[in-house]
Amino acid sequence: MANKYVTVTAPVNIATLKYWGKRDRFLNLPTNSSISVTLSQDDLKTTTSVCYSKNFESDALYLNGNEESLSSPRQQSCLKLLRKCRIEKEEQDPSLDKIASLPLHIVSVNNFPTAAGLASSAAGYAAMVYSIAKLYQLDLDRSELSKIARQGSGSACRSLYGGFVAWEMGSLDNGSDSKAVQIAPRAHWPGIRAAILVVSAAKKEVPSTGGMQLTVKTSDLFDYRVKQVVPARYEEMKKAILAKDFGVFAELTMKDSNSFHAVCLDSYPPIFYMNDTSKRIVKVITTINEAYGRNVAAYTFDAGPNAVIYYEEKDEDIVLGTLHEFFGSVPGWAKKSGKSFSVPRKFPIEKFDHDVFSKGVSRVILTSVGEGPTLVPESILNPDTGLPK
Ligand code: DP6
Repeated sequence: MANKYVTVTAPVNIATLKYWGKRDRFLNLPTNSSISVTLSQDDLKTTTSVCYSKNFESDALYLNGNEESLSSPRQQSCLKLLRKCRIEKEEQDPSLDKIASLPLHIVSVNNFPTAAGLASSAAGYAAMVYSIAKLYQLDLDRSELSKIARQGSGSACRSLYGGFVAWEMGSLDNGSDSKAVQIAPRAHWPGIRAAILVVSAAKKEVPSTGGMQLTVKTSDLFDYRVKQVVPARYEEMKKAILAKDFGVFAELTMKDSNSFHAVCLDSYPPIFYMNDTSKRIVKVITTINEAYGRNVAAYTFDAGPNAVIYYEEKDEDIVLGTLHEFFGSVPGWAKKSGKSFSVPRKFPIEKFDHDVFSKGVSRVILTSVGEGPTLVPESILNPDTGLPK
C-alpha cells in the first residue's frame, strides 16, 4: 500500500454576528447562532498536507516547521471522529484499504505572520478536518464536516464554507444540529472588502474559551443578548446579506461588535479586548459614516484589539483614503502600490490629532470575501518521511 497524501488550503473567517458563550464546553455548542464572512485565501490561509503510513510511529503534527503536540482534547476529538467515519466506510465496503488505524502525519503552515495575532485556529482546524476527510475519501458534505471542525474550535466550523456563512446553534444535546451553512457564496456579493488593522497589544489577552465561560457565568446583560438581541439580529443580517444591503449589514455588524464587547465589560471581573487604539479606529469609522450620511464602512473586533473594517469595493477610495492618512506608514499597502490615496473630501481631518490617531497599528492586511477549503496539488509534506518539505 503506497503512502497516500492530500493537500488543502482553508480560509480565515471574521464574524459579523459574534459567537460568544457555550452551552456545552466539550462539544463546543454555542449559546447563540452566529454569522461570518470568509476572507480571501490570497491573503490569509492555512495550507495543510496529510499522509498516512504504516511506517510512521504515531500521529504527528508540524506547524510552521516545528513539531507540535497533538494531544489536546480538541485535536483528539477531531481525529477520533474522522477515524470513526473511515472505519464505518471500511466496514461497509470491505474492498477498501484498511487505513483508519494507520498513523497520520499532518504538516501545516500559515501564509500570514503568527505574530499578527490573528485567530489562526479557525483556518487551522478547518484545514485539518477537510484534508483528513479528503484523504479518507469520506462522503460527508461541508455542513457535516463543520460539526467535526466545531469540536476543534467553535468558529472553525464557519471556515468550511466560502462567502457568507451562518453557524446554526441547534438545540440538541448531542450537537448533531449545530453546524455551519452557507448563506450566500462569494459570487453573490464579491465586492465586499476587508481591511484588517493589526493593533499591537501590550499584554496577553484573555483566551476566548475562558472569557466566554466567565461571561456566561457572571454577566447580567448576557442573557438579554442571547435571548433578545441576537435571534432578531441573526434574521436581519441574513436578509441584509441576501439583499446586498451594505448599509443595514454594516449597522448590524457594528452593533453586534459593540454588544459582544459590552457583555465582556459586564463580566466580573471585566474583560477588555479593545484598547485605546481600537477605540480611536471606531471614532474614525463612525466619522466617515457621519460625513457621508450613510454606512460606508463597518468595524468589528474579536477577542483582541485588532480591527476588521468591512466596506464595498465602490467605496474603496473613501475608506482606504482615510485609513491611509492615519496608517499609511505601516506595512501592508504594497498590494496597492502605484495607487495614490488622499483623504476623502468630506472627511473632517482637521478634527483629528494625527499623531495620536496614527499610533498603535503595526500592519494592515487588505483583503476581500473569499472561497472555502480547496484541494490543491502541491504537497508541503514529503510522503516518504512524513516530514515538512
Ligand atoms: C470573538 O472559536 O476561538 O472570535 O470555541 O473556544 O475555540 P473556541 O472559541 P473561538 O471563539 C471565537 C470568538 C470570537 C467570535 C466569533 O468568531 O464568532
